[in-house]
Formats: sequence, structure tokens, C-alpha cells
Amino acid sequence: MCGIVGYIGEKEAAPILLEGLKKLEYRGYDSAGIATLAKNTVHVKKDKGKINDIGFEASLRALPGNIGIAHTRWATHGEVTKENAHPHSDCSGNIIVVHNGIIENYQAIKKTLNLHTITSDTDSELIAHLIEHEMDSGKDFIEASKSALKKLEGNYAVLILNRKENQIVASRDGSPLVIGVGKDEYFPASDIPAFLNHTKKVIYLSDGDFVIINKNLEFFNLEEDKKVEREIDNIEWDAEEAEKGDFDHYMLKEITEQTETIQKAIDQNEDEINYIAKQIKEGYGIFLVACGTAYHACLNAEYLFSKIAKKHINVVSGSEFPHFKHFLKENSLVIAISQSGETADVLEAVKAAKSMKSKVLSIINVKGSSLDRLSDITFYTKAGPEICVLSTKAYTAQVALLLLIAYAIAENLEEGKNNLKNLYNLTYNLTALSTREHIRKLAEKLKEKNHMFTIGRGIMYPTALEAALKLKEVSYIHTEGFAGGNLKHGPVALIEKGTPCIVFVSEDTEKEILSNAAEIRSRGGLIIGIAPKDNDLFDYFIRVPEASFANSITHIIPVQILAYQLALLRGCDPDKPRNLAKSVTVK
Ligand code: M6R
Repeated sequence: MCGIVGYIGEKEAAPILLEGLKKLEYRGYDSAGIATLAKNTVHVKKDKGKINDIGFEASLRALPGNIGIAHTRWATHGEVTKENAHPHSDCSGNIIVVHNGIIENYQAIKKTLNLHTITSDTDSELIAHLIEHEMDSGKDFIEASKSALKKLEGNYAVLILNRKENQIVASRDGSPLVIGVGKDEYFPASDIPAFLNHTKKVIYLSDGDFVIINKNLEFFNLEEDKKVEREIDNIEWDAEEAEKGDFDHYMLKEITEQTETIQKAIDQNEDEINYIAKQIKEGYGIFLVACGTAYHACLNAEYLFSKIAKKHINVVSGSEFPHFKHFLKENSLVIAISQSGETADVLEAVKAAKSMKSKVLSIINVKGSSLDRLSDITFYTKAGPEICVLSTKAYTAQVALLLLIAYAIAENLEEGKNNLKNLYNLTYNLTALSTREHIRKLAEKLKEKNHMFTIGRGIMYPTALEAALKLKEVSYIHTEGFAGGNLKHGPVALIEKGTPCIVFVSEDTEKEILSNAAEIRSRGGLIIGIAPKDNDLFDYFIRVPEASFANSITHIIPVQILAYQLALLRGCDPDKPRNLAKSVTVK
């Protein structure tokens, strides 16, 4: 986790860094800080809390100089305190570091630094001291930095500000880092939105890359131990796509954007979809691997592939993959699904697959991400930047693509496209103001609840799981999702008078799921029906169209909106839920 950004050029660095930090806050918002360099003096401001909460925005903005580095933190080593906020410096104050990642051998490193004054509990501060330690043995700054970074175990993306030489060193191993390239200016950063307002040119760094940033860029790779060349790429996103625009929150903006992202799925290149379908047909053992919401997209695929393509696939949560990797063979196919392409558990699974020489195909949203670089074949969901920590449009884009792939395996891609084409108007209505108002009234009824349940059958079961995740992660109301038929095997014991239960109804599961709803209602449960038609069993009804295999897309949208409304009514920040970060880059 954590977001890092740097600037070197002719403009004032601090406002650019501040703007970049705001764009990276989705990566962590426990604390923030900036260090700039002006006339050989380093200026540092940092504190705990979100940038806007801290009230130190103005003092951050006022830091002088045309060169600087900045950090927004998701705490791993050390509590959320001002001392643990980045940037960190060595004893001399000449080497200043911001870091994203985890240094696994930090205890061993710390022992070698017993003559140094360490002022925080972080693993990151040790990097600055380790470089200083290497310089004490006669190396210059660059050689000392290379040598120090080679000693780190774990993963890192670092920016190192060198006071004496007016330069920044950027290096990565396992954590994301790109460099925005402007006219006589550079923006090293964890992610593109940090500099998208300034340039649409980017260099994607590889693991082991070590870049000296000054008037120009000098690339070296620590693993290859030699100078390397890196190409400049063009960014396809528009700057506005990463802005909130007229919306109060990214979450609502991204929910409403689903109309367009589904259209983008329909417009995906047919040859590419058919190619993926071919890989799946030929694979001996297909494993879908993902975490969180993307894992729920995989569970959708399990049903879609079974029903549409009559194809069995194995769905494994990223962190559980090591327990199944012995099944992999050279002709196995591992399909990794991830919005960010940086989820550590998914990357681990992919590395395991590569070690078994299996083919890796990724479905990702962020081009140039670690997963993109590790995969044999990549397919982009093209949902545009998803900034809110909760995944909404990336999820439905994943489901839409998986649906098309299922149809392509069944050699009937056209029918899949038609299924999605019907969704355009339907999703527009689902996100319209009138629907949002209807759902807000429901949120009023639910806002004081402590527990909720969601149930579905067949393809509506993964939807129930995803709905529960959306509701709990942003409203902090404890919500659990179940397969409708499973409730009577235990969870029904939790139903009391007024316990809300969201029931997902589709044509093919209507009879059975309504029986389950009746079981809950007869025990006092409050039934919220998300269904194509109303029913006497429902205490509250949200109409959704019947969209056949695309029901997972239509039925989840009202719950995304409900989660958003509940967050607002309960005083939670929809874009930055507590304890969470968008990319989970730790195992
Ligand atoms: O970037 P990824 O899709 O790999 O992220 C996976 C999960 O961390 C992510 O979906 C998480 O569960 C979100 N908070 C869901 O809203």
C-alpha cells in the first residue's frame, strides 16, 4: 500500500506533489508528508490523518523548491503517528526517503545500524540509514543506494532525495512505480493519476529498475546489474476520467459510469475474446485466481462457464492458491483477475504458476501494472481509472468480459454481445436520480441496523457475496452473504424481528429463493426484494430488469447505491473506508 510521488523540474514542486498525493490517497490515508529541496536545504512537513483533515494543506503547499518527494501512508510497520509518517531521513539529513512496500528483513538490517539514530518504528526509515551506512564505507551516493537496495528483502518502490546532488533516485522491486515524462520535468509515482494533469507520457518501470532522475533519466537494473533502456508510452486515459467532476464522491461517479463501461466491454476486440476462449478450451486445468471483489467476479465466471460454455473451472482465492499449486502442469492455464494488477496474493499465485511453467492470462484494469508485466497474455477491462477504494465499475466490467468469454467458448459470442447490448438503457435507469432517491429511502430505514444478510441462488449467489462485501466495507454494518439454500443450515439462527435480508431474485431461481425469503420473513426478518417483479413477501422492493446471464450486473447496481447512501447517512467516507486501501500490496 502507500502512495509515493516525486517531482523534479522548473515549477514549484510542493503544489504538484500535494495534488499528486490527493490522487494517490486511495492507496492509503493514515498519514501524509512532503519533503522539498531549495537552495541545499531540505524542508519537510508530515502528520497523521488525511491531507484534508490534518489542516496542514496550506503549510505543505508553501514548501519551497523545484524538487521534492511525497507520501501517503497505509500503516504496516509502526502505528499511525507523526513520527512514523514519511518522508524519513538518515542521521545527516542528506538522504530522504519515501517508501511503498514491506522490508521483510528489517530486523536484521536494524542490527547493522546500531550507531544510527532511528526516530520511527518504520521499516522504511532504515533504507535512508542503510544508504548512509554504505556511504560511510566510502561509496558515493549512487553506489551506496544500489548496494543498500540490493540488501532489501520483501518489496519496495522508493524515491530517494539526495540533498547534495539535487537528484531523485527511483527504484522498484515488487511494488508499482512509473515515471511521468513532461517537458523538462519528471514525475515518478506509484500510479498515473498522480501526474495525469501534467503529462500523458509514461515510462513503466520493471522490477529491479533503478533510475537516476535529474535533468534527464538514467536507467539501470539491479537484477541484471547493467544499464538498460526504457520506452516512453502514451497514456490512453483522459485527465477528467480521474477527476470527480460534478460528483461529490468518486464512488457515485464510478457507479454511474457503468453504463459506459459495459458499452466498452461490448466494443472489445472480438478476435482477442475468441483467442482467450481458445486458450481456455485448450487448457488442461483452468484456475481463476483473484481477491475480494475480483474473486466474486471469478465466482460469477464459475456459473457462467458452467451454464453457457459447459466448462468446469477452478476458482481459488489468491491467498489460498499455494495449497492448490501442485495441480498445475505445463498445459494448465491460470487466469488472474485484478483491477489494480498489484494485489500481492494474486501476484504470488501468478509467480507460483510461472514456476510450474503454466500459462498465465490476466484480466486487469491498470496497464503496466505488475500483473500486466508478469503475464503471458493480458486482457484489459478498459473501465478507466477506478479511484474509490470500493470496486464497482471494474467489477461489472470484469463480469461483462467473463460473460463474453463464456459465450465465445460456446462459439456464440454474438449472443453474448446482444445480452449485454440490452443492458445499456437498463443500467442507465438503475443509476438514475429517481432510483437513487428510492434507494435512499431504504437506506434511511436501515441506517441504525447492526446486522444484515443477503441471499441468492445460482448466479445470484456470487452477487449476494459481492453485495455483502460492498455494504460492510463502506457502511461498517456487519453484512453476510449466503446461498439461499444454505441459510437453514445455521445462519437462520441469527434472524430476529427486523433483521434485514436482501433477496436477489432472477427468473430461473425465483421459486426457490422466494421460499427462502418466506422462511426468513416467518422468523421476523425484513425482506428487501431486488427482483424483476414485486411480491407480497417484500417489505421493500427494488425493481431490476430480468437480464438472463447478465443479471449479476443489473442486480448488484442497486446495492452499490445502497452502500453509498448508507455510508453518507452513517457519516462514513465512501471513497476512503477505514482501514482499507485500494491495492493490497502486502500478503
Ligand atoms: O485490485 P484488485 O482487483 O486485485 O483488488 C482486489 C481486492 O483487494 C478488492 O477487490 C477489494 O476487495 C475492494 N475493496 C472491493 O471493493
